[in-house]
Amino acid sequence: MEPTNPNTDEAQKRVFIHTFGCQMNEYDSGKMRAKLAKDGFVSTDEPDQADLILLNTCSVRDKAVVKMHSALGEYRKLKKSGKNVKIGVTGCVAQMEGDALMSRYKDLDMVFGPDGVPHVNTLVSNVMQGNRVADTKFLDLETYPFVTEVDPQSSSGTGAFVTIQKGCDNKCTFCIVPSTRGAEASRPSDQIVQEVRDVVRQGVKEITLIGQNVNSYGLKSAHEITFAQLLYRVAEVSGVERIRYTTSHPRDMGEDVIQAYRDLPQLTSHLHLPVQSGSSRILRRMKRFYTREKYLRVIDALRDARPDIALSTDIIVGFPSETDADFEDTMTLLDEVGFASSFSFKYSPRPGTPALRLKDAVPAEVASARLTRFQARQKELGIRYLQSIQGQVLDVLVEGTSKQDDRVVCGRSSTYVMVNFPGSIDLVGQTVPVTVTKGFTHSCRGERVL
Ligand code: SAH
Ligand code: SF4
Ligand code: F3S
Repeated sequence: MEPTNPNTDEAQKRVFIHTFGCQMNEYDSGKMRAKLAKDGFVSTDEPDQADLILLNTCSVRDKAVVKMHSALGEYRKLKKSGKNVKIGVTGCVAQMEGDALMSRYKDLDMVFGPDGVPHVNTLVSNVMQGNRVADTKFLDLETYPFVTEVDPQSSSGTGAFVTIQKGCDNKCTFCIVPSTRGAEASRPSDQIVQEVRDVVRQGVKEITLIGQNVNSYGLKSAHEITFAQLLYRVAEVSGVERIRYTTSHPRDMGEDVIQAYRDLPQLTSHLHLPVQSGSSRILRRMKRFYTREKYLRVIDALRDARPDIALSTDIIVGFPSETDADFEDTMTLLDEVGFASSFSFKYSPRPGTPALRLKDAVPAEVASARLTRFQARQKELGIRYLQSIQGQVLDVLVEGTSKQDDRVVCGRSSTYVMVNFPGSIDLVGQTVPVTVTKGFTHSCRGERVL
């Protein structure tokens, strides 16, 4: 039987959202689901069942854009085969390419950027009435309408994202994000705390505060608290067992945030702190506004405040003019910090970014060789880290059962280590002590301490 909409008694409409890119996009997709539910849309995992297909896209590297175009091609085939479905491109590629996408794909029904999310209902209802819609206007920062609805699907597990800011005011020369997400605005702290309460009520134990540069939270609003103060406020919400946050900028990592690692047991012992390069010369050309030495000082201070803190990072190799010596600086930084894990990428020139004007492009094969070397070393360090914790007892927040074996459960430690151990599904949502018995490449095996 067709499911019915309790409000209208009509057959329900189904929306399929394909999400690319970072946590912001994942969060935005959840917000769109929550808002569209009000208009009778239920979420489906089957594109061929959908009345509306949205591709929430990423343009941070060329590869992500290529992936989006090929997925779009697949969904357009459904339409060509006669299916009555509306297709929209949202997110960062939509913001950048807006009308160009509409002209290129005549059967595309809609494009809107990240700032369209708060108005998704109006935009979609316009499309469902048969109109083609393109909206890439940025909204006013003073009155930015952060979405307060909570998507049950995004907050049904043990962890949930909560956004604390939109946009980015930095101008890292390689990065397209400031043009796709616009200027930075901080979400009112009362609203953040309310959303934390809402998701905790649904059973969430671990909150990840998200933004492109979380450390600059509140600094531009006269009456807002700082990021460090926000951490203390979120920690006060009863039921919040763990707090994570992403992404931090090393330049803005202040003493007050480092102090929070001494004061707040809820703050987890893991930090993702993108360094991008180990060469101060390259960092200058990237306009990151810190040096290798400053980055290492921040790491020292963090380790002083929280000795077991595990660190991860983002690296770009092959940025214009990167020499062998610059790359060696990245390799030695990797060893010096001993990152537990990292995301590493070949520099991808992005439209409209300042780095396009830089000369001395690094040949593709040189960049590839550097990436391979970097990733091989990171793999060794990751394994070494996971082996170094063998025998330790970690508090693991159980997230679910293993895909291969339902008598095995998996979860993460405060240090973000994935641990699998024998246990049953009723442990999900509980934090239990587990002895690490063996470290692998990306995860560990353990035994519950009873
Ligand atoms: N706001 C975050 C990162 C956002 S983008 C921060 O400041 O760290 C996520 C990562 O993508 C970046 O950390 C960077 O390592 C990578 N990235 C961004 N632009 C890129 C480009 N043009 N080429 C390759 N990698 C890029
Ligand atoms: Fe991009 Fe830099 Fe902003 Fe991060 S801080 S989103 S890398 S401009
Ligand atoms: Fe991609 Fe946009 Fe996030 S470009 S990384 S989806 S902010």
